[in-house]
Amino acid sequence: MRGKFIVIEGIDGCGKTTQIKEISEWLPNSGLMHKTSKIIKTREPGGSEFGKKLREILLANNGINDPDPLTELLIYSADRSEHISKVIKPSLNRFDWVISDRFCDSTLAYQGYGRGLDQQIIKQLENIVCQEIKPDLTIFLEISPEMSIARRENKIPDRIESEGIEFLQKVNEGFKLIAKEKNWEIISASQEIKKVSAEIKDSLLKHFR
Ligand code: TYD
Repeated sequence: MRGKFIVIEGIDGCGKTTQIKEISEWLPNSGLMHKTSKIIKTREPGGSEFGKKLREILLANNGINDPDPLTELLIYSADRSEHISKVIKPSLNRFDWVISDRFCDSTLAYQGYGRGLDQQIIKQLENIVCQEIKPDLTIFLEISPEMSIARRENKIPDRIESEGIEFLQKVNEGFKLIAKEKNWEIISASQEIKKVSAEIKDSLLKHFR
């Protein structure tokens, strides 16, 4: 017996942060959680103390920061290893509910489909890093790459966000394939925020009731 592990995936600008805030406020009174369980909101990269430093290294968009794709993969994996051992595992063992903004499949989508790295290497690393930790539910918030870019028009892009539309198209196609293969909950995130929240809540009720 342990807590539940929920992951929200999708390309940049799909509204993960807003939706995670909404469901983490709703879940404690949803009747799904035990009264003594807590909600742990977290994210990748940067879900642990050490990982916050790795997040800075990964996302700094300063023109100097240009890691080789394999180096990038290893840093995302190191961040995940620390996140799992220091945050996710201990929380699940305390029966808490963990909601993570991104997890392993972001690596498959961005470094695998986006950067074109060998997916077998990515999966091997995933096995080493994740051990027995797997999401109980992954929700994919789907938007088009065009909408992703339009929504971020006034935001300074981080290193990954500045890759441009072709990269984002590959990542998005990757996410769609993974979502189908793994039978994720797919929710259209181009709808009104409230409608997206309602659909997420429905799928949580369906899965955990
Ligand atoms: P995110 O926190 O979603 O960005 P923001 O806070 O701006 O919404 O994610 C940071 C970036 O890292 C995002 O562009 C996706 C990328 N990323 C990968 O390339 N591989 C990974 O394994 C993960 C977890 C994220």
